[in-house]
Amino acid sequence: MIIAVDGPTASGKGTIARALADHFGLPVLDTGLLYRAVGYQTQLGHGDPDNAADALAACDFPDTLLDDPALRYESTGGLASRVSIHPAVRKALFQRQVDFANQPGGAVLDGRDIGTVIAPHADAKLFVTASPEERARRRHAEMRARGVDVTYDAVLADVHARDARDTGRADAPLLRADDALLLDNSDMDIDEAIAAAIAFVETKVGRPG
Ligand code: C5P
Repeated sequence: MIIAVDGPTASGKGTIARALADHFGLPVLDTGLLYRAVGYQTQLGHGDPDNAADALAACDFPDTLLDDPALRYESTGGLASRVSIHPAVRKALFQRQVDFANQPGGAVLDGRDIGTVIAPHADAKLFVTASPEERARRRHAEMRARGVDVTYDAVLADVHARDARDTGRADAPLLRADDALLLDNSDMDIDEAIAAAIAFVETKVGRPG
């Protein structure tokens, strides 16, 4: 069984994907982490994330990089969104994601193009979103709790910039698949959003045995 979870930055899709994986006993892949690794590796090699050749060279990153806490930084998210525009980068990361999705027993993947490009044949697809203001509010609160000194307005500007890049790119833009459930959780807390996601997937694939 394959479950595809797509959505914009700070929508809660990662938390929902992990909860679904837990509930259905499936492995989970945060595909954003792969793009973050490429963005970070480009920077480590003093390359330019807007240059396709530099970003492609960074697709050879060592797997140990995936455990680096620096991948979680906001600044790395920005680098990821810049390298992910290049078709050559998307192509280089394609097979790894397809293989993960198609492993025996199935998997949960979260990202931007899982239901549209990586696993169009997924058994259940969700498009998780919330208003830009709500996503910025949550991210701002989370960053302040971690001690990061940042204003709400700066976080909102970053959310808008990431949305514009992710939806505006020509190759595999952020897009709701026709057959994906739209889960707008602007007015839900995370537990309600997880419950709604589980209920939807169960209508598609049944309850875990
Ligand atoms: O989900 P996360 O914020 O970690 O993703 C970082 C960036 O990687 C996104 O802004 C997006 O540009 C890119 N990405 C993508 N396709 C995916 C996952 C992430 O283009 N499947």
